[in-house]
Amino acid sequence: MPELRHVASGQEGAPVSERAAPTADELDAADPLAGFRDRFELPDAIYLVGNSLGALPRTARENVATELDRWGNLGVEGHFTGELAWKDYHELLTEQLATLVGARTTEVVAMNALTVNLHLLMISFYRPTPERHKILIESHAFPSDHFAVESQIRLHGFDPADSLVLLSPRAGEETLRTDDILDAIAEHGHELALVMLPGVQYYTGQVLPMAEITTAGHAVGATVGFDLAHAVGNIELDVHEWGVDFAAWCTYKYLNSGPGGVGGAFVHERHVADQSLPKLLGWWGTNKATRFAMVNEFDAIPTVESWQLSNAPVLAMATLRASLDIIDDAGGMVELRRKSVQQIEFLDRRLAETLADRVENLSAGPIEARGCQFALRVTSGDGKAVFDELTGAGVLCDWREPDVIRAAPVPLYNTFGDIERFVQILDRIVPHKKAARPVEVSP
Ligand SMILES: Cc1ncc(COP(=O)(O)O)c(C=O)c1O
Repeated sequence: MPELRHVASGQEGAPVSERAAPTADELDAADPLAGFRDRFELPDAIYLVGNSLGALPRTARENVATELDRWGNLGVEGHFTGELAWKDYHELLTEQLATLVGARTTEVVAMNALTVNLHLLMISFYRPTPERHKILIESHAFPSDHFAVESQIRLHGFDPADSLVLLSPRAGEETLRTDDILDAIAEHGHELALVMLPGVQYYTGQVLPMAEITTAGHAVGATVGFDLAHAVGNIELDVHEWGVDFAAWCTYKYLNSGPGGVGGAFVHERHVADQSLPKLLGWWGTNKATRFAMVNEFDAIPTVESWQLSNAPVLAMATLRASLDIIDDAGGMVELRRKSVQQIEFLDRRLAETLADRVENLSAGPIEARGCQFALRVTSGDGKAVFDELTGAGVLCDWREPDVIRAAPVPLYNTFGDIERFVQILDRIVPHKKAARPVEVSP
C-alpha cells in the first residue's frame, strides 16, 4: 500500500506552515483506494449521491447472473444445492454485515427492508405500560421512522400526542447537542419506554453519540434502538460494545445493494434467545432442522434469525454480496473511514476557500460527529435553482426540502477530483451576494 503523501511534490523539505495544501490530483495520486472506483459502474456524472443510492458494483451483474443460471438449471433444487443454496443464502452476508456494525454473527441478519425491520423490532422492544409509554425520537426524523413510531404507539392503544417526545436542535442551530439529547432522556426518564434515534441524521449528516445515548437510555430504564440507514458503510460502528438493544438499516446507500435492496437487523446478544419477548413469527425463524417438517410448533432459532419471517430475497442479496466483498477487499470500514475523513476535510477546505460567503455547511463540526454526507445551504440565492443547475451541469446530488443540497463523497468510488469539480461547478453557479448599496448622503 503506497504511503499517503500529505504535501505537494517538491515541498517535502519546507516547514509545515509554508507547504501548500495538497491538490485533488495529488490526493488522488496518493490514494491507496483509488483503484476501487473501477469496480463500480457509475452514471456519466459526478456522482455524489451515494447517501441515497450507492453505485452499482460490477460484480453484482455476475452474482445475479449466477443465481438466474442456477434457477434456470436447477429450478427448485437451487434451494438445497451447493454452497449457494438459497435456503441458507442470507447466511453468506452475516459475517460481513456484523463486522460493519460491530456486532457478533448471532446478532445480525439480512432480511426485509428498513421500515419493516423497525416495526418487527419495535414489536419486541417497545412494550409500553401506562406508566412508561413514551418514545423519544428527533423532530426531524425521517418520515418513515416517524410514521412507524406513531403507528406503534397507536397499536398499543396510546396517543402520539402523549407518548411521542420530539427532540429538536436549539433555535437557530441545525444539529443536536449531546447534552440536550441526554437531558431529554433524563427529563422523561421514568416515562420513557424507548429511545429511537438515527446513528447518522439523514438531513444534516450529523453522527449522534450512540454509546452515550445508549448508556443514558438504559440508566432510566428505556430500551435503545438506532436507525443506521445513513451510518452503516459510512462510519465505524460498535453496536455490540455500546450495548444497543436493537438496530435496523437499509443497504442501498453506502452498501450499494441497489434499489429496494434487502435490509439489515441487529438484536443484542442478551436478547436474542429471550423467548419472553413478543415477536411476530414466520417459518424462516424456526429451527432450520425441522423447518421443512411442516410442524406447527415454533422452535425459535437462538439468534436474531428468529426474527425472520419469510424466505430470503436471493436476487437482492446477490447484489449486496458483491458490494460487501469489495468493501472487504478495500480493507473494511477502517480504511474507508480514513479516506472519508480526508475527503470531508478536503471538501471543507475547498468550500471555505471558494464559497464561504455563499454556501453554509450545516454539517460543520468535530470530525467524530461527521459522516461523508454534507448538507449545504445556499445563502446568496435560490438553493433549489442552484440544485437544478448542478443537475444540468452533470452533478448528481440531492435536494431535501426545505432548503438543503445533500452531497456525499463516498470513499469507495468518489475521487478527490470529483470533489474539486463539484466545488468549481458550485462556484460558477452559486450567485454572489449583491453588494450593499452605498448610502446616499444629501449635500
Ligand atoms: C433514515 C431513513 N429511515 C427510513 C428510510 C426508509 O427506508 P425503507 O424504504 O427501506 O424502509 C430511509 C430511506 O432512505 C431513511 O433514510
